[in-house]
Amino acid sequence: MEKVTKAVHDNGGVIIAQLWHTGRAGHSIDRNGKLPLAPSALPIQGMQHFTSQGMKDYEVPQEITLAEIKQTIADYGQAAKNAIEAGFDGVELHAANGYLPSQFLAESSNQRTDGYGGSIPNKARFVLEVMQELINKVGGDKVGIKISPFHPYGNMILDDPAGTYTYLVEELNKLDFAYVELMKRSPYFPSPEHYPADDEIELFGSMIQQTVIANAGYDKASGEAELEKGIASMVSFGTLFLANPDLPKRFETDALLNEPDRATMFGGGEQGYIDYPFLSE
Ligand SMILES: Cc1cc2nc3c(=O)[nH]c(=O)nc-3n(C[C@H](O)[C@H](O)[C@H](O)COP(=O)(O)O)c2cc1C
Repeated sequence: MEKVTKAVHDNGGVIIAQLWHTGRAGHSIDRNGKLPLAPSALPIQGMQHFTSQGMKDYEVPQEITLAEIKQTIADYGQAAKNAIEAGFDGVELHAANGYLPSQFLAESSNQRTDGYGGSIPNKARFVLEVMQELINKVGGDKVGIKISPFHPYGNMILDDPAGTYTYLVEELNKLDFAYVELMKRSPYFPSPEHYPADDEIELFGSMIQQTVIANAGYDKASGEAELEKGIASMVSFGTLFLANPDLPKRFETDALLNEPDRATMFGGGEQGYIDYPFLSE
């Protein structure tokens, strides 16, 4: 890892490690036969998991115990320390896209009756405790979080998504850390009918006290338009950066972009990850 972080720094870059616990979005095939842990024993429906033995239906996960929650929060803290020791400039809690932290926030994955389920404050407790742990372990200036309030990926269905995420954001505002990467819903995954139609950056971004990084679906023009609105101070690019290793240079010079190839994303080998050409090629 040090080799990677050093290479990024030697080239004037900044690199943040995303801390990712997949919760129920896993499979026993790739967990030495153990079922994934999740807030409640509720499987992801309507999707399959990419395993080492091909696409498989999701299993009913095992409900995580209070002792395991405590241990998991400590593990996040240790992971953050390890990342900083390996030369990363910061850590980001992956609390988006239907993974463990977001699973605590949604009724479709959390039906607990203890202090981590039921009321909105209870459902938000896990995310807030993990964030406090990260801040304690490495300092708030090295900590961020990614959230995707209205993105139903991973079968995330909340009864009151606006109320739940408003509470979460208000509580995050009380913590001292660097940024919130705010991901909008994707047109590929329409949200349920009872979800508000509001633009997530306008609705939540304007409440957030930390630096707001807007994400999902931007290109150069829409990214600039987003920054003009004055809510987000940064925009992040996923697919376009994957397909264009020199994306900033291409934006700067209005160069043509390589077309992202969806067939090589999310699995398989190095193809589609390290072989998109630079401008000079
Ligand atoms: C191949 C691929 C892998 C991704 N892996 C992650 C990931 O590990 N963590 C994450 O938060 N988002 C991941 N994403 C989502 C992106 O970070 C981003 O949120 C999403 O692609 C929307 O932004 P875009 O429209 O600029 O691509 C991935 C996206 C792609 C295409």
